[in-house]
Amino acid sequence: MAQRETWTSRAGFIFAAVGSAVGLGNIWSFPFQTASNGGAAFLVVYLLAVFLIGFPTMLIEFTIGRRSKQNAVSAFAELGYGDWTFAGAIGVFASFITLAFYSVVGGWVISYIVGSVTGAYLGDAGAYFGSVSSGLVAVGAHAVFIAVTIGIVAFGVADGIERATKFMIPAILVLLVGLAAWASTLPGAGAGYSYYLSPDFSVIASNFADIVPAAMGQAFFTLSLGFGVMIAYASYLGRDDSLPGDSAIIVVLNTIVALLAGFAVFPILAATSGVGDASGGAGTAFIALAGAFGQLPAGQIIGLVFFVVLLFAALSSSISLLEAPTSYVVDSQGMERRTVAIGIGAVAFVLGIAPAYGYVGLFNDLVFNVLLPVAVLFIALFVGWVANREAVDELGRGSSIGEGATTIWLWWVRIVVPIAVIVTLYLGVTSFYTGLTTGAYF
Ligand code: PFF
Repeated sequence: MAQRETWTSRAGFIFAAVGSAVGLGNIWSFPFQTASNGGAAFLVVYLLAVFLIGFPTMLIEFTIGRRSKQNAVSAFAELGYGDWTFAGAIGVFASFITLAFYSVVGGWVISYIVGSVTGAYLGDAGAYFGSVSSGLVAVGAHAVFIAVTIGIVAFGVADGIERATKFMIPAILVLLVGLAAWASTLPGAGAGYSYYLSPDFSVIASNFADIVPAAMGQAFFTLSLGFGVMIAYASYLGRDDSLPGDSAIIVVLNTIVALLAGFAVFPILAATSGVGDASGGAGTAFIALAGAFGQLPAGQIIGLVFFVVLLFAALSSSISLLEAPTSYVVDSQGMERRTVAIGIGAVAFVLGIAPAYGYVGLFNDLVFNVLLPVAVLFIALFVGWVANREAVDELGRGSSIGEGATTIWLWWVRIVVPIAVIVTLYLGVTSFYTGLTTGAYF
């Protein structure tokens, strides 16, 4: 078999992993989830979820990936625990399902870039969203988005993924900082910030059962955990740099992008239609923001910049979603990467036709509420209770953390992570089931 690829440098790996983490979840979902769930109060719960549960979970995936040098499915057998293959398979399945609906939303973004150039959404953003978000236009844009994703993955780990993310991540950061700075000059910016960040702990107290799974689900989703993606990415590490150090950089950068997105979005809304009506999630984000661009001087250009940022964020994530199943087939069947990427992308395209006709919510919640927590639970139990100490010690290789820190992490992964995930899973499954039985998704 051909030699397995590796990243060309430590920075290459970090850019790719940040690219996976920074996505629609940061820029599209995060600000609106925060605003509608109690502002700064939600932020506290979310940051706790990211740093106390997400960060140690990222270390689990990195440890499995670098130790096994295999994709998420084959990794378990490689480490000598073939019975646990299912744990990785759930994640890879989740990444495949996510790719299908993520690409549909990526297609919306493409339509909004076109709309920014033509000015089509400036007059009536709601009508524009209606015309591009489902039906043939949505399927077409989804096809374009997934084709670009396939194109990048087909080029390989270093020449495709690493090169693309090295360009896209700095661009996202620079453009978002610019957008946030520009937004701060708008009249009413202060009202936007206070809507975004004013803590309302009573919202948390009264909606605890919704907010905890929302914050945890968002933490896993935004860090790309539970998909096998970070296992695959760490498996391409050819050298031993500090896994905790790399993770910390990735988690912090990802958080900065999410926060920055809020600092760009809310002043813009406050300066135009007002912030209150933007709290209704998916469609409203595209509608309220796009409507705001229609009311601002230079709004068309600002809109273009915003949707280009969103496109880069979406693409740098979708390539990781395609990479997880692709690396599995390439590793296990020895097939050519390009053929595999095209084949898997084509199947994801077909599956994505359902969300392109209105089932984004169903796909999203299946992943968020069910598949992710299940996958994370099993990999945590695996590293916590099953894997031998030699495999666990992979965490500290190349880093200055000692045996003691590894042991603390191990106990954290044994006890705290599973408990947090089980609570999340229970609440998430309950709400998904309610959605199914009340017909909310259909
Ligand atoms: N982290 C991405 C986001 O926040 O949009 C979503 C995602 C990408 C999840 C890649 C999982 C993944 F493998």
